[in-house]
Amino acid sequence: MDLSGKRALVTGAGRGIGRLVALRFAEAGADVAVTARTEKEIEAVAREIGDRDRKSFAFAGDISNQDDVSRIANGAIEALGGIDILVNNAAAIARGGVLDVTVEEWDRVMATNLRGVFLMTRSILPAMMEKGEGTIVMVSSTAGKRGDPGWAAYSASKFGLMGLAHSLLYEVRRKGVRVIVVSPSAVDTRPMEPGSAPEGGRGAPLRAEDVAETVLHAATLPPRAMIREVEIWATNP
Ligand SMILES: NC(=O)c1ccc[n+]([C@@H]2O[C@H](COP(=O)([O-])OP(=O)(O)OC[C@H]3O[C@@H](n4cnc5c(N)ncnc54)[C@H](OP(=O)(O)O)[C@@H]3O)[C@@H](O)[C@H]2O)c1
Repeated sequence: MDLSGKRALVTGAGRGIGRLVALRFAEAGADVAVTARTEKEIEAVAREIGDRDRKSFAFAGDISNQDDVSRIANGAIEALGGIDILVNNAAAIARGGVLDVTVEEWDRVMATNLRGVFLMTRSILPAMMEKGEGTIVMVSSTAGKRGDPGWAAYSASKFGLMGLAHSLLYEVRRKGVRVIVVSPSAVDTRPMEPGSAPEGGRGAPLRAEDVAETVLHAATLPPRAMIREVEIWATNP
């Protein structure tokens, strides 16, 4: 799975799944710009990518803020000379059913998971369309495929992301841009402790590296082929 010569931007790359996607992309040969709000975390990830002999740049900002997104997108395009792969991974989570979730939490989840993805995609897309090639990965969730009691805002935002992704796909595929939705079930994103993996990987949730591997696989298919949507489930959670 080779990404030599490719340039990627990964959102929410300070920790969890985004960090693993950024590192795995670098191992596959890509130069990677990383973004999230916590500067210390993305700078650490950029250093880890540097240790893998790839170029990396960290841009701190909030993806729900239009000015931040313009600065991040322009900075990444300038620093890497273009973006071939955008991974829209950053997301906010809020517990609570329709009667429990606060209006503020609802707004924060929608602002991050939908508005943020919309803003970032719009900022990167024109350069991809001009080049006639590009890959946009949306990290969604199985909560975006079926309702999830107790997760009203999060689930609604991920259903919305699916609508955004599919609409976008029909807008851009004839311009050579692929749109890929990756929907994982629950992922244990805590750093792996030595010896903590359950025997044979049974009875365990997914791990961030499982999702990173799936994203890498989808992104490394030849440009003529596109995995439109992939669900990845823990075998025996
Ligand atoms: N973990 C799971 O069980 C699971 C299951 C299915 C799908 N997913 C999806 O997988 C993706 C990653 O999840 P994760 O568990 O790895 O998340 P995580 O560990 O909570 O990390 C989220 C990342 O997004 C960044 N982020 C959050 N809000 C942001 C904002 N407004 N602007 C910029 N960056 C922001 C965070 O950094 P800052 O806070 O520093 O900004 C962090 O780097 C999400 O799309 C999630 O919905 C996760």
